[in-house]
Amino acid sequence: MKWQTDASPNIALIKYMGKQDYDSNLPANASLSYTLSDLKTVVELESTTENSDRWEALHDKNLAYIPKLDAEEQQRFLRHLQMLKKYFNYQGNFIVRSANSFPAGCGIASSASSFAALTLCAVKALQELTGQKIQDVAVIADLSRRGSGSSCRSLFGPWVLWEGDKVKQLELPYFKLLHQVVVVSSHKKQVSSSEAHKRVKTSLLYEGRTQRAEKRLEELFTAFTHKDWSLAADIVWQEFWDMHVLFETSYPPFGYMESNSLIVLDYVRALWEAEKDGPITTMDAGPNVHLLYRQDQEEMAKKVRSDLSSQFSLL
Ligand code: PMV
Repeated sequence: MKWQTDASPNIALIKYMGKQDYDSNLPANASLSYTLSDLKTVVELESTTENSDRWEALHDKNLAYIPKLDAEEQQRFLRHLQMLKKYFNYQGNFIVRSANSFPAGCGIASSASSFAALTLCAVKALQELTGQKIQDVAVIADLSRRGSGSSCRSLFGPWVLWEGDKVKQLELPYFKLLHQVVVVSSHKKQVSSSEAHKRVKTSLLYEGRTQRAEKRLEELFTAFTHKDWSLAADIVWQEFWDMHVLFETSYPPFGYMESNSLIVLDYVRALWEAEKDGPITTMDAGPNVHLLYRQDQEEMAKKVRSDLSSQFSLL
């Protein structure tokens, strides 16, 4: 028997960086994300009589990016499946297959969509195989969070607030945004986000981080509620820089920003200066730059694509 589901990545505007509890992935601060419904990870599970679970790439002509998970990443994915099997008290095994519609491991939040898709697919399979039912999506989000914290936000959308062990959809203006990723590099990152969560705490600048993030979250709500796009863009800009500065000032320091990321950020800044308007800009734990536009900025999004496409690929 085979089951298949998909889930989209989400981009945090207020970042989850630093954990309160490492085993259950409880965050140090609340975060706010936008679900990127044009991108997806597909996970397929096939029940097998083999004596353990295993992962392999999913080959599907509609999914351009076949992930190359190293042994450790495969183990992390399979450990999550094993936790879900234990939750349902199920003894059988599965072949897990996955692929993405976008490059993985480079700051486009593939771990969020992968773990959300795996959780949804395993819950679907295990409900059918055991006859048990999970009625509440909050329970599924809680299970998903244990695999990868940010994945719990991918079960909702588009606006999602995650606070402690609670995650919920929010009614905010700007329901349908246009999203672009300027792909500066699709190379897999050297330092995983799991490691980043630990390492940021060694930065002298980590002190006050929780308060800064919580304050920005409040200010961002107010900006969105008043439809103050420009203020929202300023807050989100400060927030991603805060996270990247923590990376660069950790011990030992690390970073994802590349010189080409700075070229894109300079371009966006100049656009804002010239037009007194522009996209909300953010970066995840990777060198690629995410741009979010309002519906009425479609022409601007086209211009940005044409200006940048000679140097970078854009998703
Ligand atoms: O879910 P994790 O452990 O991969 O953490 C991801 C954290 C960031 O993507 C860097 C920020 C966020 O809030 O998504």
